[in-house]
Amino acid sequence: MILLIGATGRVGSAAARALLASKTPFRALVRRPDNAGFDCDTVEVARGDLSDVASIKRALHGITRALMVMGNHPDQAELERQFATLAANAGVSHLVKVSSMEAGPGATATLPKNHYGTEQHIESLGIDWTFLRPNYFMQNMLMYSGSIARTNSFALPLGDAKTAMIDARDVGEVAAVVLTTEGHAGQTYRLTGPELIDFYEVAARMSAVLDRPLSYLAQSPEAFREVLGQFIQSAWQLDAVCELFAEIAAGSLEEQTSTTADLLGRPAVSLNTFTQQFAGAFAPAS
Ligand SMILES: NC(=O)c1ccc[n+]([C@@H]2O[C@H](COP(=O)([O-])OP(=O)(O)OC[C@H]3O[C@@H](n4cnc5c(N)ncnc54)[C@H](OP(=O)(O)O)[C@@H]3O)[C@@H](O)[C@H]2O)c1
Repeated sequence: MILLIGATGRVGSAAARALLASKTPFRALVRRPDNAGFDCDTVEVARGDLSDVASIKRALHGITRALMVMGNHPDQAELERQFATLAANAGVSHLVKVSSMEAGPGATATLPKNHYGTEQHIESLGIDWTFLRPNYFMQNMLMYSGSIARTNSFALPLGDAKTAMIDARDVGEVAAVVLTTEGHAGQTYRLTGPELIDFYEVAARMSAVLDRPLSYLAQSPEAFREVLGQFIQSAWQLDAVCELFAEIAAGSLEEQTSTTADLLGRPAVSLNTFTQQFAGAFAPAS
């Protein structure tokens, strides 16, 4: 039996949809079952929280494979490492972790450093593991949908740095492939979308699809921090995101691979397709 952590999130919900589509039974550990949106006739839902050990132990009963993805949080590293240990002790033989492309011994920002530390912890547990290290999510553009709708522009502190943005739904589908097919133990998959482009080009692609001119405004790190501070209350999170964007501005995501397409057996979702599918979110405010 497979256990999904993070099944209500962007990556985890796509993994859940892929498992449902292939009629693979799974259990989802969720904090609020009533809001999880799962049909309890088809999905086994376990109420739980990664900060509640008893709920994790209950959810792990009979589980052999698990996907672990969690939103960024000050306690993320500690909670993910605790879950991994509990999973190994409960007999999980293969753990799939969503990490990030910048994770590695050279990471300087807190979030990828934490992901790398958690990867190393999982490696020490003596179970099979697969690490998914994705590039920048296309879904991050939805955070700028209000600005795009109102001003036909979005601002980021990324200069002319490039990313090979990936649709988070593709990451979830890759997770489902890894959980249901063999040959992925001990693999670190560097997952990207199909194109390595800077944000001026992102604006140009989105303009063409949305049929109106959009601009990317290269923002200073200081201005980014000031704007972000209006939306993010946690000082930890604000520092972590600003550090991460400084790494990205320095080129940490300038890598494109064919791994996503190779694993899915189809092309990775392009920014054009993503923009078409979410065009309503970017539509001008009436
Ligand atoms: N954004 C990017 O560009 C990017 C790129 C590479 C890697 N990543 C990594 O991707 C991960 C985020 O994935 P995502 O976008 O799918 O996240 P997301 O949409 O924010 O979803 C987070 C999921 O974690 C669950 N969760 C949070 N705290 C929990 C807890 N204490 N116990 C149980 N479940 C908990 C949430 O459940 P609720 O519904 O209850 O909140 C939700 O299902 C992060 O680790 C990030 O570093 C992101």
